Amino acid sequence: MHLPRGGLQWGLLVIIVGVVQALDIDINDPQSIKDAASQTAHGSMLWYKGNETGQIPGAFPDKWWEGSALFMSLLYYWYYTGDSTYNAQVRQGMEWQAGDGDYMPSNYSSYLGNDDQAFWGIAAITAAEMNFTDASKGYSWLSLAQGVFNTQRARWDTSNCGGGLRWQIFPYEAGYDMKNSISNGLLFQLAARLARYTNNDTYSDWADKVWDWSASTPLLNNNTWNVADSTEIQGGCNDQGNNQWSYNYGTYLTGAAYMYNLTEKASWKTAVDGLLNMTLNTFFPQSFGYIMSEVLCEPKEVCNDNEILFKGLVSGWLSLVAKLVPSTYDRILPKLQASAQGAAKSCSGMGNNTCGVRWHLSKWDGLVGMEQQISATDVLSAVLITEKEGGGPLTSSTGGSSSSDPNAGDGKSSSSPNTPKAITTGDRAGAGILTVVFAALWAGLIAFMVIGA
Ligand SMILES: *[C@@H]1O[C@H](CO)[C@@H](O)[C@H](O)[C@H]1NC(C)=O
Ligand SMILES: *[C@@H]1O[C@H](CO)[C@@H](O)[C@H](O)[C@H]1NC(C)=O
Ligand SMILES: *[C@@H]1O[C@H](CO)[C@@H](O)[C@H](O)[C@H]1NC(C)=O
Ligand SMILES: *[C@@H]1O[C@H](CO)[C@@H](O)[C@H](O)[C@H]1NC(C)=O
Ligand SMILES: *[C@@H]1O[C@H](CO)[C@@H](O)[C@H](O)[C@H]1NC(C)=O
Ligand SMILES: *[C@@H]1O[C@H](CO)[C@@H](O)[C@H](O)[C@H]1NC(C)=O
Ligand SMILES: *[C@@H]1O[C@H](CO)[C@@H](O)[C@H](O)[C@H]1NC(C)=O
Ligand SMILES: *[C@@H]1O[C@H](CO)[C@@H](O)[C@H](O)[C@H]1NC(C)=O
Repeated sequence: MHLPRGGLQWGLLVIIVGVVQALDIDINDPQSIKDAASQTAHGSMLWYKGNETGQIPGAFPDKWWEGSALFMSLLYYWYYTGDSTYNAQVRQGMEWQAGDGDYMPSNYSSYLGNDDQAFWGIAAITAAEMNFTDASKGYSWLSLAQGVFNTQRARWDTSNCGGGLRWQIFPYEAGYDMKNSISNGLLFQLAARLARYTNNDTYSDWADKVWDWSASTPLLNNNTWNVADSTEIQGGCNDQGNNQWSYNYGTYLTGAAYMYNLTEKASWKTAVDGLLNMTLNTFFPQSFGYIMSEVLCEPKEVCNDNEILFKGLVSGWLSLVAKLVPSTYDRILPKLQASAQGAAKSCSGMGNNTCGVRWHLSKWDGLVGMEQQISATDVLSAVLITEKEGGGPLTSSTGGSSSSDPNAGDGKSSSSPNTPKAITTGDRAGAGILTVVFAALWAGLIAFMVIGA
């Protein structure tokens, strides 16, 4: 429990009397914010069993992508507070789930969406930009982001709607028939961040390509800056599923900020300003004192676990945008600060600072979950940009030390850049057999689906 200023005696009195204490932060006192973030981060890790005997590091069997949200929040936490308590577990979990260096681990890969995989790639490039030390044995953070990029680039689908990623990867998954903003927006963001980190034109060309395709569909309107959620392939991506989710705005905004920082092109600045306006106006309502709200689901209390994480994801991204495009800093900071204060007040549940979903209520709303703890940690960390004078995400030419593997994830690269190994004839034969087995399984599955239908 965070002891109120004024000392131990008052703190003891609170404990004895059993008064419920919120995570009161003083927005001008960074230490009070760090203390609060330490509590919310601890609370998020109470849900993580991956480092216990018999458990699997980084695994969340029913919600695999959420591991990336947890680890990303702990990366921000470490970066902004300096507390490295969870670094070893973050490193272990992010390596364990890496698959063949592309975040398609076989336990989960048969039912992933492009967005699920991409979030792990975003976590990896975040680690690289923060100079989170590469694992001594395993994949480098940069190569993991490159592995995700390479596997997603190969799925770019020009035979429907002139391009774009589908939401899901495999035909048997619900959602394979649509293209959506989060999948394409995350590939755009990943490409933009790789472009800035490596200064390799291949990535910026892809960022341009994903952006231009998105703007050619009802997903991204480059005039009004509306970002829709999804569009159906049947009908040529002309319809608009226009649900308003903060992370769809956040991912295009963040990618545009990286592209502006890299290229200094006026068109990217226009995009940043337009998307930031929409994000702040929609999701930080004046009527809530500018405290962030996932406005589509919070009023009716119907936010699911994914949706509870969106505010956290966007908080972290906004902290990067404020640094990458300095003219946005003074517009972003007060909104993050109002939100952090609301989030801290929501962390007053169960007598142990359990966090709630709705930050604008300024009290705990009775809801409990890892997602609530993660999002609170994200926004409490994000407001500490005030302590990072001049700092911003690193690149390979400004001190980022993660090693590059442009071929990661395409099956041609070594198993790990840190332990190079020659590919033997045996390996190739083995890969061939796997392909044949997979093709047979695939044929069987298709037959099953056809007969079953
Ligand atoms: C708070 O207490 C509940 C009930 O004992 C427990 O399940 C939960 O893990 C605790 N949360 C925190 C953040 O300590
Ligand atoms: C798992 O992490 C927690 C929190 O850091 C730590 O207390 C515990 O000892 C770790 N367990 C193992 C088996 O490493
Ligand atoms: C996949 O599942 C097996 C069996 O439960 C486990 O040993 C392994 O660690 C898992 N791998 C990942 C990446 O979760
Ligand atoms: C908006 O997007 C369309 C479709 O990609 C493009 O033709 C147009 O040039 C873009 N406008 C601006 C101002 O970028
Ligand atoms: C964004 O909002 C600011 C002030 O709120 C305004 O000056 C600016 O023109 C807006 N930009 C766009 C692209 O809408
Ligand atoms: C790019 O980002 C850095 C912070 O990482 C910042 O110092 C610099 O001013 C930004 N460049 C532009 C053109 O905004
Ligand atoms: C990043 O880490 C490497 C190795 O740990 C170090 O040599 C380098 O100075 C660090 N970069 C910055 C900007 O601190
Ligand atoms: C740039 O990236 C592309 C695509 O991954 C790769 O083929 C090329 O080798 C890279 N160039 C350099 C100089 O790393």
